[in-house]
Amino acid sequence: MDSSHASTAVAEQDSVQTAIAHLFGPEGRADPYTPARVLREAGRLHQTPLGHHLLTRYEDCVAVLSTTAWSHAEEAAMMHPTVSPEDAPEELPTSFLWMEPPDHTRLRNLVTKGFTPRMVTRLRPRIEELTEQLVDKALAAGEFDLVEFIAYPLPLIIACELIGVPPEAYNQVHQWSQDLARGFDHDYTLPEEALRARSAASRGFMGYFRELLNERRMDPKDDLLSVLSQVEDRGDVLTEQELLATCITTFVAGHETTANLIGTGMLQLMRNQDQIAALRARPDLCAAAPDELLRLEPSVQITTRAATKPITVAGHDFEPGDGVVALINSANRDDDAYTDPDRVDVARYSDPMNPAKKHLGFSLGIHYCLGAPLALLEMEVLLEVLLRKVRDIEVLTDTPPYKPNVVIRGLESLPTRVTPV
Ligand code: HEM
Repeated sequence: MDSSHASTAVAEQDSVQTAIAHLFGPEGRADPYTPARVLREAGRLHQTPLGHHLLTRYEDCVAVLSTTAWSHAEEAAMMHPTVSPEDAPEELPTSFLWMEPPDHTRLRNLVTKGFTPRMVTRLRPRIEELTEQLVDKALAAGEFDLVEFIAYPLPLIIACELIGVPPEAYNQVHQWSQDLARGFDHDYTLPEEALRARSAASRGFMGYFRELLNERRMDPKDDLLSVLSQVEDRGDVLTEQELLATCITTFVAGHETTANLIGTGMLQLMRNQDQIAALRARPDLCAAAPDELLRLEPSVQITTRAATKPITVAGHDFEPGDGVVALINSANRDDDAYTDPDRVDVARYSDPMNPAKKHLGFSLGIHYCLGAPLALLEMEVLLEVLLRKVRDIEVLTDTPPYKPNVVIRGLESLPTRVTPV
């Protein structure tokens, strides 16, 4: 290599390492998409200083997520090396999210029984009623924090009612859930206090759900905890540890992620008022818009997989046990997969005859999000209620603060002003 080529290669490598640092560092919380684009344009695969391989392209992420040749069971080892395998069940209760068949199939099937599409459809009137109350409260305030008034309470209350957590525990489970969500980030990026909070939240959740499950065994109600407690009672194949981890995963997965979709989704709409006008002109687009908002701002920004056999992806040969990080935040804005990928287009997912490519915001394959219909329904109902009750909605700052989270990313607050119709 001559010296000019060598210096170009060094400069490119520098910009890749800077982009990686920004993508995972504090700079990337408000906008991870610019560094993601730099990485995508520089190549399909990059290696981080921690030795992880990052996949930037839609088609490579699809190739990995859609097959069990790649396992999710190694996530704890890749992302949480400070937790010993013996402590993992108490410290990182992630249930079937980090399992593979046959255990994954067995547990997911059991939860699916308590979580059918019919159960979700039945929730619509309740979601509408609650959303109207929350929007009325926001209208009464005029200026308010959308994260505090709507994004958190809507999925929190629905998740609690679905699972069976009583109102007096809402504040406590909300705090635990936030601490666990923060703990999804790589251990080496977490301050000591965040690691301690994650551990306390896991143990707190375990103890709390153990008590609730005991109550439901004696006195079943119409909720997911009762369904799950009876599954165990029938002598089925769910140990107490699996049962508890399943309750916690479902709660955390359903609450934080949906809150983040509502916050970042509403911010995008408020920054693109033409899209709110498009929804007003065609309210039927409220059903399609949530997918587009999640494509652009995926609440789960990255996920990991490890090869279970020798396999080639993005031109690289992986050996069993080698890990990759699928950059969902990059794949969802890949020009090869989407036209004008950085633009919000609430109609993008509205034409069944000409569907846009499925985004990876809910992942793919056997771990495809179990709660996707519920999350989309909550966002859809919120848009419908806002169109009905609100004339103008605007964001009051150019720089709303983000939580420090990398993996489960979202806004800390969103100062907003509304005026009634
Ligand atoms: C906008 C909201 C949501 C987003 C962005 C989201 C995203 C995801 C993603 C990306 C995965 C797969 C993770 C991976 O492959 O690494 C997942 C799995 C899961 N989600 Fe969601 N989710 C959302 C809402 C919900 C809700 C409302 C629930 C339940 C109430 C839920 C329950 C689950 C469960 C149980 C899994 C594990 C599935 C499995 O491993 O088989 N999620 N979610």
